[in-house]
Amino acid sequence: MTQDEKKRAVAHAAVEYALEHLDADSIVGVGTGSTVNYFIDALADKKQLFEGAVSSSDASTERLKKHGIDVYDLNEVSSFDIYVDGADEITEHMHMIKGGGAALTREKIVAAVAKTFVCIVDDSKVVPVLGKYPLPVEVIPLARSYVAREIVKLGGDPVYREGCITDNGNVILDVHNLTILEPSKLESEINQITGVVTNGIFARRAADVALVADENGVQRLNSN
Ligand code: 5RP
Repeated sequence: MTQDEKKRAVAHAAVEYALEHLDADSIVGVGTGSTVNYFIDALADKKQLFEGAVSSSDASTERLKKHGIDVYDLNEVSSFDIYVDGADEITEHMHMIKGGGAALTREKIVAAVAKTFVCIVDDSKVVPVLGKYPLPVEVIPLARSYVAREIVKLGGDPVYREGCITDNGNVILDVHNLTILEPSKLESEINQITGVVTNGIFARRAADVALVADENGVQRLNSN
């Protein structure tokens, strides 16, 4: 199976999982990325079974609308059950690195409102320790160099993501050479740096369920 086939398989499994928890009045939270794109495409076939979506990026909003799925402003939605999103890395503790697609801040906000975070990945994303994938940090443009110097003090090696402006008008530093043994602690420490909007460690709001595609199908992992 190619990685793409696994992404498609896990996206279809996520639609089945979501439909078990949704009804005609439900809003579904939708993440961002190539795995989520498969999820959106598969969800479109079932759009009569739920009310609409809240979205974590302009790209996902556009794709949802193209399929005729109504997209609601998160400010209009006080709570919803399921948020489905991919990840760049995930551990058995359901801690993740996200933000490869630069949508980390909106993803973290939508995830905060959702009752259940369903992470959909292929098995290449499952790691024992976070940090091999460079950690994305969204930064106010004026603060870029200052934040980079502060991250060096924390032991990271920040690289400016050239040509990338987030949906919020900010820039991304990708932090290399981190071995993230205490994800919640580092998530908080980086977020305390003035000028950081947020970073791509999702440990304080980890996933509740992970659907992982491998050669044998799709496995479901639950948080302890
Ligand atoms: C976007 C993300 C994505 O979920 C993450 O990058 C995984 O993407 P893909 O499904 O394309 O591998 O966090 O900001």
